[in-house]
Amino acid sequence: MPEDTKKTFPKDFLWGASTSAHQVEGGNHNDWTVWERAYAAELAKSAASRLSHIPLWPEIKTRAQDPDNYISGRGVEHYKRFEEDFDIAKNLNFNAFRFGIEWSRIEPEEGQWDQEALDHYRRYIEQLKKRGLEPVVNLWHYSLPVWFAKKGGFKHRKNLRYFDRYVGLIAKEYGHLLTHVITINEPNVYATFGYLTRERLTVQWPPQEKNAVSFGRVYWNLTQAHRRAYKILKAAHPKLQVGIADQLANIQAKRPHNQLDELTTKSMRYFWNWWFLQRIRKEQDFVGFNYYFTDYYTKLGQLQNPKLPLNDLGWYMEPEGLYPLLLRVWARYKRPIIVAENGVADAHDQYRRWWIEETIVAMERAISEGVDVRGYFHWSLLDNFEWAYGWWPKFGLVAVDRENGMKRTVRASAKWFGEKIGKIS
Ligand code: FCB
Repeated sequence: MPEDTKKTFPKDFLWGASTSAHQVEGGNHNDWTVWERAYAAELAKSAASRLSHIPLWPEIKTRAQDPDNYISGRGVEHYKRFEEDFDIAKNLNFNAFRFGIEWSRIEPEEGQWDQEALDHYRRYIEQLKKRGLEPVVNLWHYSLPVWFAKKGGFKHRKNLRYFDRYVGLIAKEYGHLLTHVITINEPNVYATFGYLTRERLTVQWPPQEKNAVSFGRVYWNLTQAHRRAYKILKAAHPKLQVGIADQLANIQAKRPHNQLDELTTKSMRYFWNWWFLQRIRKEQDFVGFNYYFTDYYTKLGQLQNPKLPLNDLGWYMEPEGLYPLLLRVWARYKRPIIVAENGVADAHDQYRRWWIEETIVAMERAISEGVDVRGYFHWSLLDNFEWAYGWWPKFGLVAVDRENGMKRTVRASAKWFGEKIGKIS
């Protein structure tokens, strides 16, 4: 890495990885675990029709056709082994860590706080700080307490008071220990997969409603949930930096200068990237977003991406697409930016190092042009439960062998990343 890179990244730049509670903790009981049990057999049975087009299919088909793949179960036992995982993060030269609090653990029954869970997350935050890892907490990452899901979750505006109450408790318990809070992860993805996606071949998540009106309500209510959470957190601790982690794509016209492609691109950008951020623009101290995709659009909304390179999930990879996205986010909001997630499903660790290297260059370029990028969190620290895909996709900087005592092995790309951070921070 050239000497200049060292000068580019601010001294207090947050370098870290990201996790979410349900994907790693193990032993959860929430609307996702209920859904997993109900749909595991069906997901296994339909795996070939959904996934046989992806390059890794021959290698993963046994696992993808096994119902067990779709059960989060013991997770990777991060709930028990978090200190060991923080040691690994520290050894990778990280100075920050993004993680989720599982609402269903804190409030397993309506209005009943679980003291053991509250103590657990306090210890968790303290252990991060003890190692010099800045805790960046995420309050809600898709999974809901069963009682809240039964009431209709975020579909009903009147249910927002339950989220308010949970946020208030978190502010009271941990606010003084924190500097950064992310309220909600990827509202656009959650509302789409849970309430809109229809085709058999695309992903569906609980509660699988497939109803455009419900989708609209959930999406709108999540804007309100964030705005209210922002106010609650700031009233309790004015110094807290509060934002969300939206999923933003680098959306481009397949045929530049073609009017139809440009129009499609503009509308896709507006609806996918900006609609939510626009509604919460006054209630965010930083713009947090997750970057995985560059998408080329043509004609009336047709996605037409290059065929290669693809990650294990068949997602087209263009890591440098982070650069134009950072520029556009900065131009629109002029707020500090945190890349809250970014990574690749790559079981053989053949792309990850390249991906991270291109990503660092993309951030470096943007920073050199005055964009205020404050942090980068790689997805993910550990191999984890990838929602409706289950266990086979491998996003971890650290491999986890669930068949052999949950053994952690740091991947070569992670070692490289850790050394790089050591040199530039
Ligand atoms: C993001 C999610 C995260 C993980 C990655 C691969 O959309 O926020 O939980 O599933 O994708």
